[in-house]
Amino acid sequence: MPRTITIFDTTLRDGEQAPGASMDHSAKIQLARQLARLNVDVIEAGFPISSPEDFESVKAIAQEIDGPSIAGLARALPKDIERCWEAVQHGSKPRIHTFIGTSKVHVEKRFGKTEAEVLKMAVDGVTLACSLCDDVEFSAEDAMRTRLEYLRDVVEAVIEAGAKTVNIPDTVGYATPWQMYETISYLFENVPNIGEAVISVHNHDDLGLSVANSLAAIRAGAGQVECTVNGIGERAGNASLEEIVMALRTRGDEFDADTNINTEEIMNTSRMVSTLTGFVVQPNKAIVGANAFAHEAGIHQHGMIQDRQTYEIMRPEDVGLTESVFTLGPRSGKHGLRSRLEKLGYAVADEDMNEVYERFVAVADRKKRVYDEDLHVIMRQASTAMMAEVWHLERVQVATGTNLEPMGLVVLRRNGDTITQVGHGNGPVDAVTDAIRNAVGMPELEMADYSVRSITKGQDALGEATIRVRMGAEEAVGQDAKLDVIEASAQAYLNAVNALLMRERTRQQGEAQEGPDKHVL
Ligand code: KIV
Ligand code: ZN
Repeated sequence: MPRTITIFDTTLRDGEQAPGASMDHSAKIQLARQLARLNVDVIEAGFPISSPEDFESVKAIAQEIDGPSIAGLARALPKDIERCWEAVQHGSKPRIHTFIGTSKVHVEKRFGKTEAEVLKMAVDGVTLACSLCDDVEFSAEDAMRTRLEYLRDVVEAVIEAGAKTVNIPDTVGYATPWQMYETISYLFENVPNIGEAVISVHNHDDLGLSVANSLAAIRAGAGQVECTVNGIGERAGNASLEEIVMALRTRGDEFDADTNINTEEIMNTSRMVSTLTGFVVQPNKAIVGANAFAHEAGIHQHGMIQDRQTYEIMRPEDVGLTESVFTLGPRSGKHGLRSRLEKLGYAVADEDMNEVYERFVAVADRKKRVYDEDLHVIMRQASTAMMAEVWHLERVQVATGTNLEPMGLVVLRRNGDTITQVGHGNGPVDAVTDAIRNAVGMPELEMADYSVRSITKGQDALGEATIRVRMGAEEAVGQDAKLDVIEASAQAYLNAVNALLMRERTRQQGEAQEGPDKHVL
């Protein structure tokens, strides 16, 4: 009987810490619902003390989502742990996840303390958390650069204090698979009470080893892995959920372990994360990349026709990649649309259905066939359009040509006021974004990254623009897809501007309340 590995999804917390990936409240709820459909065991919904917005999202997710445990992150400090409990206590299966750095550099440089003092903080934090909540997880941040004997003492002490899960993070993505195997094996051999807790790992991908390290830890006995959808996260990201899950499913012979994940929901979840964060999945990404199941070479295609197993180790349908991607045409009614959206993980409130349907009809009229990818885009556009206090793009116009300086004009609306502005640039996109910068009064805004790709196939495919903007140390990503790539680029740019403005507003609201910036973790 294979062991069942607990999948702890941290897309909403660590994934959301990726520069520019931040999701608004409704996006987080949307994704939490989809993670429940994917059947993850634990959703780490956020870091409640980091901002009032994070607190509200964790609380709302705990209140609404049934099935997975809902965890909130807290430093090993009373104010963090109490705030975390305030947010997660509303759920049927709450978890407090508390942590403190244990490596020499964290203990001495970051905290200016001794190992014994940090160990006491860890134990005090876990003891307080256990007095509030039945399910407590402790993480020894930067564990893989922590002195092994000290790590052993910390693990033993926090289990003694009541932690049910002890996480061994490779915070900076420094470990190798064999080091990971040896560390987890060492803990199993040297911590006397280790059988009283689940040992977990949490790997970052700085050396591209996060999935390999997670699998090595499972082989050594770890019972939980922390991961994110599409591997998004700080810097190079976290271990990718779909890669770990499909490695276990496909190579059960190697691991004698599996997960509870409903793998047929993997593609939907991956697309939703990409849509909501604006982080495009690279085409050659394992499991969820556009080419992951595409066989280009003639010799491969020939083999596949004779027997799929010649070149295919997983079936596309097992990860939810079905042939019937085009589903809805211009005559599909609201009912058909709603039920397709539900299959993709979107629950649309009755009062929002008209907005969504109007957008669907507009796309269906122009494209005749609407693909699942288009529906993800429509949902993102509709939710942006329903946010009242952000800038809306009413109109965009460009004039360009040989020997002409490109000129862009935009008409924007906010709270009932409209503003018209022109801009100039090296090309039409540059000119339009210049016009937007002038209109919103953010002249110092820089374009850090820009890409366009076509989603779906054929001449009527939507062009999707992804733009990363930077203002000082802050970054945000905006994405949009339209038949006209200039319009899509303008809207993507405005979405990024809106994300920055919303974040600033949330920060101002939270200024009264003392708390850490989550990006310092
Ligand atoms: O990378 C890390 O160490 C973390 C911890 C807070 C678990 O994200
Ligand atoms: Zn992390």
